[in-house]
Amino acid sequence: MSDNFDVLIEQYTADGGGKIVLDLGAGEGKYSLKLARLGFRVLAVDLDTERLEKLREQAKRQGFDIQTQQSDVRNFDLTKQQYDFIVAVNSLHFLEKSEALDVIRRLHGALRAQGKLLMSVHHQSGKLFEHYKSHNSMIEPGSFVISPDKVISFFTEDEIKAALKGMKIDYLGVEQFTDQSKNQNVIYLLARKIGN
Ligand SMILES: C[S@@+](CC[C@H](N)C(=O)[O-])C[C@H]1O[C@@H](n2cnc3c(N)ncnc32)[C@H](O)[C@@H]1O
Repeated sequence: MSDNFDVLIEQYTADGGGKIVLDLGAGEGKYSLKLARLGFRVLAVDLDTERLEKLREQAKRQGFDIQTQQSDVRNFDLTKQQYDFIVAVNSLHFLEKSEALDVIRRLHGALRAQGKLLMSVHHQSGKLFEHYKSHNSMIEPGSFVISPDKVISFFTEDEIKAALKGMKIDYLGVEQFTDQSKNQNVIYLLARKIGN
């Protein structure tokens, strides 16, 4: 994760006390724990029960009460409750692009007025994208099969902006991020819901 983005997150979450955050694809809880520390009440959702177990252990050790729900984000009911803050960092690009964009379009309805969204996904550029483009089969433009039951998707800024109708984008940047010696370009986004 980019250092710049971490600084922006701190500014974005300064008014966290008591607010409700939904962390989609929370994994072991890097952001859930960070936000719990800032005073948010967190619901962490992930497909992977082992990662959620680790998140709960960490939360317990650090004295936080974080709710967890094992669910595929594609099936998670986004109409049941509205949140002050939704986080989807480094998770939605593990869906086929059309499915990820469908989830992103529905986030608007799951946010309270002025609710905020913090998201990062792979950008459709750079070495990682070129690698998958030349080595893997493409199931839809920008989505590649990486194993029999796994895909990875790469997005353009315009695709993300179009999916965020009704949201004001406070920050959208593409930055290079190096993970396991692979350079990847990542879209970092901060947005808020306007109107109801
Ligand atoms: C690279 S980790 C990122 C975790 C965390 N957001 C972070 O930034 O540290 C991606 C997470 O997305 C989860 N994930 C992938 N596909 C998912 C899906 N369809 N529904 C829910 N979670 C999913 C994985 O289980 C994994 O925990």
